[in-house]
Amino acid sequence: MSTTDAVAFWNGVYAARPAADDPQPNARLTETVTGLPPGAALDLGCGDGGDALWLAGRGWQVTAVDIAAVAVERLTALADSHGLGDRVIAVQRDLHESFPPGGFDLVCAHYLHTPCDLDRAAVLRAAAHALRPGGRLLVVDHGSTAPWSWQQDAGTHFPSPQEVAAGIDLAPETWTVERADAPRRIATGPGGRTAQVTDHVLLLRRTT
Ligand SMILES: C[S@@+](CC[C@H](N)C(=O)[O-])C[C@H]1O[C@@H](n2cnc3c(N)ncnc32)[C@H](O)[C@@H]1O
Repeated sequence: MSTTDAVAFWNGVYAARPAADDPQPNARLTETVTGLPPGAALDLGCGDGGDALWLAGRGWQVTAVDIAAVAVERLTALADSHGLGDRVIAVQRDLHESFPPGGFDLVCAHYLHTPCDLDRAAVLRAAAHALRPGGRLLVVDHGSTAPWSWQQDAGTHFPSPQEVAAGIDLAPETWTVERADAPRRIATGPGGRTAQVTDHVLLLRRTT
């Protein structure tokens, strides 16, 4: 799928639903980052922007990237209305084509899944290289799907955190694995429906 088609696909996803007034951060982000000193953060596939706004509210300087211009424009407006416009830079970019410049203390990628072309391992490898010494890369993937998800293929393989780490293929002298597990949580879906789902969590730290 071309970049044009991928942009149209994801713009369509966001345009089909109303803008979120107060998007919430992902649980794995808050549990990982609470207690860390703020710095420069990069959010890959920021979507509605709950993670970017939460980070900015805690003093982080956030670059939030998404292929969907609709999501980026909404996040920019939300950051302004939350008084966080000086801490959030939202950028429309196809990570399949290029990676944002800069060095970061935190890079997060929550549910960066797409039916369009995306070399995720290459993106996550670039993310690991964009870390400053001491910086962390948090990758949170689906380990199962909720009953209301469009994805209900019983044969779907959800790569484990260990498989994701192997795909990124980083030198252990420079990057250490701080966390690789599959915790469960209660997800809330349309109409307030709830279900237990599994996350696949990989947390890497750049040591040098
Ligand atoms: C499943 S959503 C997750 C959104 C958000 N991180 C969250 O936790 O709710 C995946 C996001 O990745 C974005 N995305 C998909 N492919 C992308 C690409 N090639 N470059 C940048 N963003 C992409 C989509 O627009 C969408 O916002």
